[in-house]
Amino acid sequence: MRVLGLESSCDDTGAAVVSWSNGAGARILANKVMGQEALHAAFGGVVPEIAARAHAEKMDLAVEQALDHADLTLRDMDLIAVTAGPGLIGGVMSGVMCAKGLSAGAGVPLIGVNHLAGHALTPRLTDGLPYPYLMLLVSGGHCQFLLVHGPTTFERLGGTIDDAPGEAFDKTARLLGLPQPGGPSVENAARSGRADRFAFPRPLLDRPGCDMSFSGLKTALLRARDGAVSQDGTLTEADRADLCAGFQDAVCAVLHEKTRRALEIYMAVSPDHPAIAVAGGVAANGAIRAALTSLASEHGVAFVAPPLALCTDNAAMIAYAGLEQYRAGQRDDLRLGARPRWPLDTNSAPLLGGGKKGAKA
Ligand code: KG4
Ligand code: ZN
Repeated sequence: MRVLGLESSCDDTGAAVVSWSNGAGARILANKVMGQEALHAAFGGVVPEIAARAHAEKMDLAVEQALDHADLTLRDMDLIAVTAGPGLIGGVMSGVMCAKGLSAGAGVPLIGVNHLAGHALTPRLTDGLPYPYLMLLVSGGHCQFLLVHGPTTFERLGGTIDDAPGEAFDKTARLLGLPQPGGPSVENAARSGRADRFAFPRPLLDRPGCDMSFSGLKTALLRARDGAVSQDGTLTEADRADLCAGFQDAVCAVLHEKTRRALEIYMAVSPDHPAIAVAGGVAANGAIRAALTSLASEHGVAFVAPPLALCTDNAAMIAYAGLEQYRAGQRDDLRLGARPRWPLDTNSAPLLGGGKKGAKA
């Protein structure tokens, strides 16, 4: 079976071809991602209208390049899988309309995929992880714990009630005059810093459960930065390093403790091959990875971090999720709609706060 995947929910236009066979399992034949960073750089964030136009302009090109790379044509495809939400509505519509056109034109079946399911099923594409496994999604737009029971069965154990960690890293970098994306700059600066110089809060650790909050860290950082400036007359390199180290340490501590709690819930379902997997750009952070790796080994659980190109937004994960869901009997047709909001687990308890805000919700 060969699947064409399309992704356009935020600021990456993606097209990919994934194949599957009984003997060889899943293979990525092409995975084309066209980023839009340059288009949004001047605005300090993703501009939905600009993103949607760029997706509409580039999607057919991305599809063409992916098919060329795989040395296949549209008529060789057995399925077209497209991100149908959640995300910025204009971008999602661009992808869905393109996929419908390709499906109708070539007579290939169509399936709409939840973007978060794409992330959550990636460890099966890369490492063949058996169900059920625990997934921590940590990116610029997402932060949640999921028990992945099957291709369409996700149990949400908790998540952020405000900012995602990546967003907090990006804001921290902006407040300290470090370059974007903030994650790598903050991690770099933190290497030479002292984490204990400034007191950062550990939000929601005093509350039971797996929900998290990261927006308070940014306020704490702002206050600590202003304190350092008034003390030193300016923000020195050492101040920057200490602030980054303190901030990163707080994020690590929160993720470590909340993951420990999520693991407890997961282990209670007695999985045969227990594993925790991560996805999202923040999974690139060395300190966070180290914290999660040692936690996993303490609990005798495998730790799986797919390669970064498959942790961040891409269409191979959408093609793969579509493939699994199609094989499980899911079908869509030309009535498929774009959904700006689409929770993976509709049965989970409502969030403590207002839920995810921002472009990458
Ligand atoms: O998954 P991603 O590419 O995009 C979405 O949010 O969908 O994640 C991007 C986020 C950015 O906020 C970036 O600052 C963060 O991941 N990030 C990091 C690191 N590398 C990227 N955060 C912390 N440490 C890093 N090394
Ligand atoms: Zn994503």
